[in-house]
Amino acid sequence: MSAAGAILRKALLRAANSQGLGRLVRRHGMRLGASRWVAGETLAEVDEVLRRINAHGLGAATALFDASVSGQAEAQAQVREYQAAIRHIAAAGLDAYVGIKLSHLGLGFDDRDAAFENTAAIVRDAAANGQFVRIEMEQSRHVEDTLAVYRRLRQRGLDNCGLVLQSYVRRSEADLDRLLPLTPNVRLVKGAYLEPANVAYPDKRDTDAAYMRMLETALRSSSFTAIATHDDTLIAYAIRLACDLQIPPERIAFEMLYGVRERAQRELAHRGYRVIVAAPYGPDWFPYLTRRLAERPANLAFFLRNAIRG
Ligand code: FDA
Repeated sequence: MSAAGAILRKALLRAANSQGLGRLVRRHGMRLGASRWVAGETLAEVDEVLRRINAHGLGAATALFDASVSGQAEAQAQVREYQAAIRHIAAAGLDAYVGIKLSHLGLGFDDRDAAFENTAAIVRDAAANGQFVRIEMEQSRHVEDTLAVYRRLRQRGLDNCGLVLQSYVRRSEADLDRLLPLTPNVRLVKGAYLEPANVAYPDKRDTDAAYMRMLETALRSSSFTAIATHDDTLIAYAIRLACDLQIPPERIAFEMLYGVRERAQRELAHRGYRVIVAAPYGPDWFPYLTRRLAERPANLAFFLRNAIRG
């Protein structure tokens, strides 16, 4: 990424925290092009998108967008929303799973026990419905507690859950090594948040190199590896590596985001790989949108062109 691109990325990721801008964009943004990446604001809206994804022969994942949750009553409302999504997926027979954010469930208000109990309630409910749940990874301040919750779940025998590791976070390689005795189901991503250089690699090349190393470790030793990237070089590398290591196809999937590189998603599926498209939903989609715009300046240009045409 160029120096100008890096500055733009930082500015956009900072803008993700602006409540005023968020309100403004939320009011008009769907009409102006946000719907290309934002699957919907409600479960009913995302249901249509998940069905369309499945109709193309692709698996799906959904999740709730970032939400500011400041106490247990709000966290329990999030638990109910996640459970509704899980039960809906099971009842409708969709090929989909739910991702959850622990900041919604207790970590956002520094209550680790609440985060564990709320997460366990969701994972148990998912197990009763024959479903898998993935714990997503958020800002680096939540990494330690997120890993601790995952470990506790596994110690309690709740095995229908997996997690996400971000290759831009310097500690992630060591975290993956420490998780291996649990043979985790892991999604590898580069990482989407604005982090200081002592926590996350500022240079994309370091992030990509770490991704490749972590991919090899995960393929060799995890129960399942979700290769979540739109990066052609990493996808080609993963295909070669999985072939060299003779990883059975049922132990990997390529995961991409709704609205991003749809042709590549379908091409991979045509080549016989399992592809899962992640389509989160909820009313608070502005920070998610800014992260997608930050990843690719052309996306920002698309959005601004629509806004100007109005
Ligand atoms: P990178 O950003 O280097 O892009 C490589 C190439 O892919 C680009 O050159 C472009 O061609 C294409 N591309 C990338 N983003 C694009 C976009 N938005 N629009 C169009 N083209 C694009 N992060 C996190 O911190 N915690 C999490 O839990 C998750 N979960 C998650 C799930 C899934 C299924 C995916 C795909 C991603 C995440 N992420 C995430 C986001 C992830 O960390 C990362 O920010 C994005 O995937 C972008 O990084 P890439 O690996 O795609 O590479």
